Amino acid sequence: MERTLILIKPDAIGRGLIGKIITRFEEKGLKLAGIKFLKLTDALLSEHYSHLADKPFFGGIKRFMQLTPVIAICLEGLDCVETTRRLCGITKAREAAPGTIRGDWAMSVQANLVHASDSIETANQEVKRFFDDSELFEYEIALTSMIYSEDELR
Ligand code: TYD
Repeated sequence: MERTLILIKPDAIGRGLIGKIITRFEEKGLKLAGIKFLKLTDALLSEHYSHLADKPFFGGIKRFMQLTPVIAICLEGLDCVETTRRLCGITKAREAAPGTIRGDWAMSVQANLVHASDSIETANQEVKRFFDDSELFEYEIALTSMIYSEDELR
């Protein structure tokens, strides 16, 4: 099954939304393959946000992302990358659709609670960037047969 990288950002940590955000992913039917708390270094952030290096807000996001430790999660599921992006909502949180994580709980572009990989290729790179193989787990959850059809599990 497909995997993607989620970061729970400092605004979510500071606002006490960790549990609610993880619950949204769990209740959707996505499975956690890995989870950890970490302090982002300048080097890791430069690599992670390299596509934004020439933007005026680059320094701002790096400072923001270092305000607290963040939580990195590797989620697993069918079409997980696209499904997760939809669940998070668009970047500008105050315009994100109600029902999404950003749409329900955030107002800002920078402080938009979560990062989610934006393509399968990026997801593969980002999962490797944040997790060693030994930190990712394969296990069965009891509800799998209630979440997917037999065809979808093949
Ligand atoms: P981006 O990869 O464009 O969005 P997304 O997180 O939805 O994939 O941008 C990465 C982060 O950079 C974004 O979550 C918040 C921050 N950012 C700003 O602070 N100002 C901006 O104008 C943009 C576009 C992004």
